[in-house]
Amino acid sequence: MNKLRLIMQFTYSAVAVVASAADFDITVTDRAIVQRCVTSNEARNIAVGMPGGFNFTFDPVRCRLDTVWFGEFLDYRGEATGRGGGKLQILGVKQLVGTEELPVRIGDAEREPKTIRFEGYRKEPATGIPTFLFRVDGVAIEQRVLSFGSDQVTIELHFPNDNHPHCYYRMDPVAVASVDVNENLRISDRGVMQIPPGENWAQIRLRLMPSQEKFVRQKPTTNGQLLYALHCMSCHTLDGKKKIGPSFADLWTKERIVMRDGQNETVVADEHYIRESILQPQAAIVQGYENANRMVDIRKTLNDEQIDALVKFLMQKKP
Ligand code: HEC
Repeated sequence: MNKLRLIMQFTYSAVAVVASAADFDITVTDRAIVQRCVTSNEARNIAVGMPGGFNFTFDPVRCRLDTVWFGEFLDYRGEATGRGGGKLQILGVKQLVGTEELPVRIGDAEREPKTIRFEGYRKEPATGIPTFLFRVDGVAIEQRVLSFGSDQVTIELHFPNDNHPHCYYRMDPVAVASVDVNENLRISDRGVMQIPPGENWAQIRLRLMPSQEKFVRQKPTTNGQLLYALHCMSCHTLDGKKKIGPSFADLWTKERIVMRDGQNETVVADEHYIRESILQPQAAIVQGYENANRMVDIRKTLNDEQIDALVKFLMQKKP
């Protein structure tokens, strides 16, 4: 009975919920799951289970990332049996990412915001990954949270309106071991990142204090589109718009000039070139992108099968 109810509640989002002998674990398959719930702290949070074993809760009152954990998603037992006061257990080691205060500041890095308004979230159709929409002191902000490995969290902030004032994002040195931001942003030694007016994109990579347990990737996904969304989309669009790297819309339609061993060379994309661009991104640098943020060594995160799936996904875009 309970199992049935559980399954019925979830089938609408086309997510496979595994309510097996392994009880009431909500298991993420190849789409993100978004679940309103009460986790161990008392707040009513939004829990997100990402494919690949990265999970987090977002606090819609303070509009901030609350907790992350690596492992499985949630144990639904409390809710399903009516015991446990509706609280859901997270299935992993909880890691905090910051203090109680809201990390975003508008106009003045030291002044707490007067108004915070949560406006919901939007799901990427292909992957189910949510983008949270909110306003801090009237400034519209869109936030995505991703992870590329254990103890790493990437927060992407998008400011859809160009005319915002100086905005700030404050790191908490207690939870965060180190921070990287994209090159157009500055960060002070106190961990305050500045987003100047007109800048509408901020990528903040937090390295958290390591947790005691090891990160276990449950079931690495081999869905090429999903891998693209998780690992490439922040720099490469599919619709022709330029982000940090060239759009994949141009991959098959344009020749490009690359710098290889100090020599310019004209290249037409083929499987070999795509594979090389992923595995040795520095081997041939596309003209015009010499100073762009570099691609990471994806072999540290993805296995061979996943890289094959990505290459296949890009090959399928060939007209
Ligand atoms: C941090 C940003 C960033 C991320 C993330 C990123 N790339 Fe790139 N990529 C670049 C930049 C910048 C270039 C152009 C410079 C160069 O050639 O290395 C590029 C170039 C490429 C090219 C050559 C494009 C062309 O038109 O010639 C391919 C193919 C590519 N990337 C694939 C990928 C794939 C697949 C992923 C995901 C696994 C990925 N990239 C993730 C920044 C990124």
